[in-house]
Formats: sequence, structure tokens, C-alpha cells
Amino acid sequence: MNEPLETVEIFDTTLRDGEQTPGVSLSGHEKLQIARYLQALGVDVIEAGFPATSEDELRAVKTIARELRGPTIAALARTHRGDIDAAWESIREAQKPRIHLFISTSDIHLEHMLRMSRERAVEVTVDSIKYATRFTDDVQFSAQDATRTDVDFLVQVLSAALKAGATVINVPDTVGYATADEYRRLFETLSERLAPQGRVMLSAHTHDDLGGAATNALAAVAGGARQIECTVNGVGERAGNCALEEVVMALHTRGDIYQVNTNIRCQQLYRSSRLVSSLTGIPVQPNKAVVGENAFAHEAGIHQDGVLKHRATYEVMRPEDVGFPASRLVLGKHSGRHALRSRLQQMGYDLTEEEFEEVFSRFKQLPGQKAPISEHDLEAIVDDQLGRADGTLQLEYLLVTSGNRAIPSATVRLQLCGEPRETSACGNGPVDAIFRAIDSATGINPELVDYRLESVTDGTDALGNGTVVVKFNSETHVGRGLSPDVLEASALAYVNALDKCLMARPMTDCSSGRGAASHRPADVREGRSSV
Ligand code: KIV
Ligand code: ZN
Repeated sequence: MNEPLETVEIFDTTLRDGEQTPGVSLSGHEKLQIARYLQALGVDVIEAGFPATSEDELRAVKTIARELRGPTIAALARTHRGDIDAAWESIREAQKPRIHLFISTSDIHLEHMLRMSRERAVEVTVDSIKYATRFTDDVQFSAQDATRTDVDFLVQVLSAALKAGATVINVPDTVGYATADEYRRLFETLSERLAPQGRVMLSAHTHDDLGGAATNALAAVAGGARQIECTVNGVGERAGNCALEEVVMALHTRGDIYQVNTNIRCQQLYRSSRLVSSLTGIPVQPNKAVVGENAFAHEAGIHQDGVLKHRATYEVMRPEDVGFPASRLVLGKHSGRHALRSRLQQMGYDLTEEEFEEVFSRFKQLPGQKAPISEHDLEAIVDDQLGRADGTLQLEYLLVTSGNRAIPSATVRLQLCGEPRETSACGNGPVDAIFRAIDSATGINPELVDYRLESVTDGTDALGNGTVVVKFNSETHVGRGLSPDVLEASALAYVNALDKCLMARPMTDCSSGRGAASHRPADVREGRSSV
């Protein structure tokens, strides 16, 4: 009889390392939505955040820890007691809490960044791990910049960490510098030299600076790692982290080589990728491995011919294995609640009654303008709806004039804290006019960092997916809008981004009426438009 395969645990850090992507800032509601998808995906550990960085971060981690059941919820902390207190405060209600401590161990970091001796680094490591074990038995220790750390010193710190009570040892390639061979050998060395302290759970954490994040994580597994730290779509600092979908599919597709299992439900990979892309505002490149739109497209005649004759000629995995939505048309004008509910269930969605009702009402608004509706459309509607929180700002009405002989102009009516605001503006094109009119109605004028429009499916009647990234009070906010009318999709995306700007401002408080009054621009107060 065959021996059961060992399991490699998947530690997802989309909400922590991933959120460190330049320009990405997720609201608490968006983080919770991503965490729910990660739970459905079957990740073993969700690193929900770095609670000492802000009150908002602590609150967001706390909500995730309270709501989710199943995965371990980890919170990051430096080797400071204050950080550990904040981390514990955020995850104490989790079913399975983990404190994740880190300190740099390479000489270059110790000398230039921490200005700390090696001896002192060992002392603070031991002290902080002992402190963290007062709260929980599950303490992970990361030796930041491990791959540029002197190996004897690394063994010394990690041995001390294990003795102090750490249960998982993470060996990050923080700057994406290691080669696959070096990284595998490092894990083999550590497995051997730490073995006298009993069975050790070693973890790989890789960055993609030289494009080797996934390869290096796989090499670490060959060297003995049994946890991989990664992010959905590989989002993260600089060139990003190891992409979850890439390592997982490599482990599954080449099980003959790696001889390990994961607990990931691979059919949820595509969906998780799209949600993270939509909420972070970072598009997935079409040729991205596993989840890119072209990952299973065969353009060349010879390839098409081969795939038609036998799929395995050019496909090492099938689109349905990773949950690529079928492009077939699934629902039409007259489909009711029951049909929609069962289709969403077949697609793997597990929505609450309230979420379902919201999606149903969005779906029912569509067919007049667009028919029939495909799985791609449904997925876009669900993602858009789940990512939305009740805001202060809504688009009620939009009128746009444009043409090759017209001066582009837009009139918008918004509801801000339940109060109507109507303004008009001209612009350099219809989208510019819409955004100016919205600025004028809200009284804020954030810097536009990015604006994109994509179609969800092919055809001129496709749903348009608008994404707007703005900077306001040095914070970045991503807004999204979905509509068969691309100008409306753009307006909705901009309103969504400005709503987040307003919500982030301490003075926006609809319940007291202060929000509305304080945002009211002079021209609106006096009933004038800004045309
Ligand atoms: O890249 C890194 O070293 C990290 C640690 C905090 C684990 O993200
Ligand atoms: Zn990292």
C-alpha cells in the first residue's frame, strides 16, 4: 500500500505582505471579503495583517479573527512587546490564533537598519517569543533576510527561537536573491542542523525580484519545507510575493515529483484571483500562469489542432481544474431567484441571504440592457457586490453629452449622506466631464492615479468594468463600477473611490449631519452649477 502523502500548508499573506503593494489600500470590509474567499479556497493560515501599524488594521484583523472558522489566523509583530500585545488583541477571538514574530538576521540589516549586534538580536528574539507564548502556543518566528544571513548565525538564532517556544520557523528570501538550488540546500541544512530539537515545521517565504518566487518555494519543498507563504496573484512589495495559484498548481500537477498534497480547493483559484484583482485594483496580466485570461487560450493553428485532437498535447492542466468560468450563456431575461441561486451554488458561491438578495437585484437590473448573461457576468456582479460597503455617496442620475461636434459635458445627481447634490461640468472628453462634475458635487478633488475600463465578456453589449485609483490625503483608494454602459461604469467607479476618500476623513459622519454640511461646496450651497 502507498504511504499517504505529506501535506504542505499554505500560509496566505495577501492581506499583509500583499497589502504592502505600492498603491494598495484595502478597507476593513474588503479585507473581510478576501479572507472569506481564502477560507473557501482552503488555505491553512491567513495572515490577516500587522495590527501594530494602525487602529484600523487592528480592527480589520479582529473582525476577520472573530468571523472566520477553519483557517489559523496569524497577526504579524516585530520583536516588541507593544506589537505582540496588539497582535494578540487582534486575534484573541480566533478559533486558531497564531502570533508571527520577525526580526532581521542578516548583517546588512542588523548593521544598517536595526543598528543591533547579533547577540542582541538573539536576546530580543528569545524574549519576545517567550512573551508571545504567554498568549498562545502557536508562535511563528521569521528570520528576515534569512538567505543573506550567515548560516551558522542563522542556525544559532533559529535554535534559540525553537528553545524559546516557536512552533513554526520561517526562512524568508526577503529580497528575492536566492537561487533555487541555494534555497533548497538551505532548507536541507536547516532540517539537518535543527533536527536535534525535534521535528521542526520549516516555512518558505519568497519574493519575486528576480522572477524566481514560485520556483524557489518549490525548491524549498524539495529541501524539506512544509509551509509555503504566498499571495493571490503574487501581489506584494516590489515585484511581489510567490503566487499562491502557481505553487499550488505546480505541486498538484507535478505530484509525481513533489510527492505532497495541499488542502487547496483548486477550483476556487480563478475566483480568488479575480476578487483580489478587483479589490486591489491590480489587473491580472493576460499571460499570467494559471489565472491569466490567456492561460488556456491556444492561438497558433498547430496548437489548436493538437488540443482539439487531444487536450493533453498542449495543456498540462484543464481550465475547469482552476475554476475558469465557462463562457457559455447561463441565464436570461426571465430567470428567477431559484435559477440564479442554483447557478451560483453550482459555481461554488456560498452567499448569505442578504448578499444573495443584493446580487439578485443587480442581476434583475441587467437584462433590459444586456442579454443573456454568462458565468463571467455573474462572477463580475458577485465580486462587485461583495466588495461594496454601505457608503455615504451614491450616484443617482447621470446625463452625458458627447460627440465629434459637441463639447463634452456631464450632469450628475449624487446622494451624499442622503442629501441630493446636482452639478454639471464640461471636460476634455465625456469621462473627464463626469469626473469634474462629481468633484464639484462632493467638494473634494483627489489626485487621479489610474483609470481603466475593461469588458467582462466579448461583444458590444458586454458589461463594462471600470476601475479608478485616486490619492487623497496621501492615502490611495480604489473604486470600481460595473454597468453595460461604460460611462456609467466609469462614473460608478469614481463615485466609489470618492466615497472611500470621504469615509476615510474623520469629519465625514452622516449620522450627525456634519458630513453633508462640511462637504458642501459653495456653488452647491447656493444652488448654482459649476458649468
Ligand atoms: O519578506 C519578509 O521577510 C517578510 C517577513 C516579515 C516574513 O515579509
Ligand atoms: Zn515578505
